[in-house]
Amino acid sequence: MTQFDYIKDIARFGLENDQEKLKDSLQEMIEHARKSKKTNLAIQLQSILKEAIRHHSSGGSLKTSSGIRFETPNSKGVDELILDQVTSDYRLSDLICTPQIKESLDHFILEHRKKNLLQALDLPIAHKILFYGPSGCGKTLASYVIAGELEKILLVVNLGAIVSSKLGETSKNLAKIFKMAASGDYILFLDEFDSLGKVRDYSQDHGEMKRVVNTILQLFDYLPQSTIVIAATNQVGMLDDALIRRFDTQIGFELPAEHEIEELIQLTLKRGVFTLGSKSGIKRLIQKAKGLSFYSIQKTLISAMKRSLYKLETDLVPAKVEIDKAIWEKLIEEEKTAISNSGKV
Ligand SMILES: Nc1ncnc2c1ncn2[C@@H]1O[C@H](COP(=O)(O)OP(=O)(O)OP(=O)(O)O)[C@@H](O)[C@H]1O
Ligand SMILES: [Mg+2]
Repeated sequence: MTQFDYIKDIARFGLENDQEKLKDSLQEMIEHARKSKKTNLAIQLQSILKEAIRHHSSGGSLKTSSGIRFETPNSKGVDELILDQVTSDYRLSDLICTPQIKESLDHFILEHRKKNLLQALDLPIAHKILFYGPSGCGKTLASYVIAGELEKILLVVNLGAIVSSKLGETSKNLAKIFKMAASGDYILFLDEFDSLGKVRDYSQDHGEMKRVVNTILQLFDYLPQSTIVIAATNQVGMLDDALIRRFDTQIGFELPAEHEIEELIQLTLKRGVFTLGSKSGIKRLIQKAKGLSFYSIQKTLISAMKRSLYKLETDLVPAKVEIDKAIWEKLIEEEKTAISNSGKV
């Protein structure tokens, strides 16, 4: 198939609203772009696909942001650069993390609750925070938590798409985004922050990377202290040291420990309809799930919940459903295999 054929398929499935086939065609087109060395196109499509999948998968039984979108007069010309403008219902209790991470987030949030006091006393406000760590361990979620706790609008920007689209325009686009963020009570969320490091790979002109990094450094300095900027990356090693140093707070997220997997299960089953039965059986499954991210574990558990529900073969809402542990175990195994085959951790 040629790129032309993929585009035709994508247009057809998009118009027919066939999400599954649309995603498959997109995936095939990404592969095709990769093989034909159209790296920028592949990366941008991958970013779009990833965001869409995330968006969908969090729409199930998980709580999502309120989804209220805003049109602001300042958003002219930056619309296409900003992926989403949302408020969030997430709270700290939605995030499972170590006491150290919780404390760092608490402090950061408090700085903004006490903003007026700090300003009156001429004290600086920490407003730049870096989240790093493996995929699916809470970086995006923590950003929504900060937005929810502070009741601010989150401007979601995928830096991957911006940096790779038109390299020469990267600095200009970044300036536009920061200007918009500074114009209101926003939190700017820069996802895939490591893309800045990748400028080096795309550019024949190595100076371009330096220019983009310098722009970001200047924009950081120019940002009012009441505007929060959150950057997230799962490849912190790609980042320039000068950039990392600019953040007031840096938080490293990790794969869940056993007790965190247990908390994740409780959080996911909190409505009480679904149960997992015997304690010893759960312990064994927690062992099995070790090494997977919060996201993967929750995803497999939710699939197991649904499949156990379908097995009841009823359309009436049941008062109790016991999750079939064998189903969950199988899904965990499948997830592990899928991840090891795709080479991701
Ligand atoms: N620490 C956590 N506590 C509770 N739920 C979590 C946690 N981490 C991940 N999840 C679940 O997994 C989903 C995806 O996590 P999230 O988007 O925060 O991952 P991420 O670290 O941003 O990954 P990526 O690097 O791929 O963007 C969340 O919406 C949530 O349902
Ligand atoms: Mg994320």
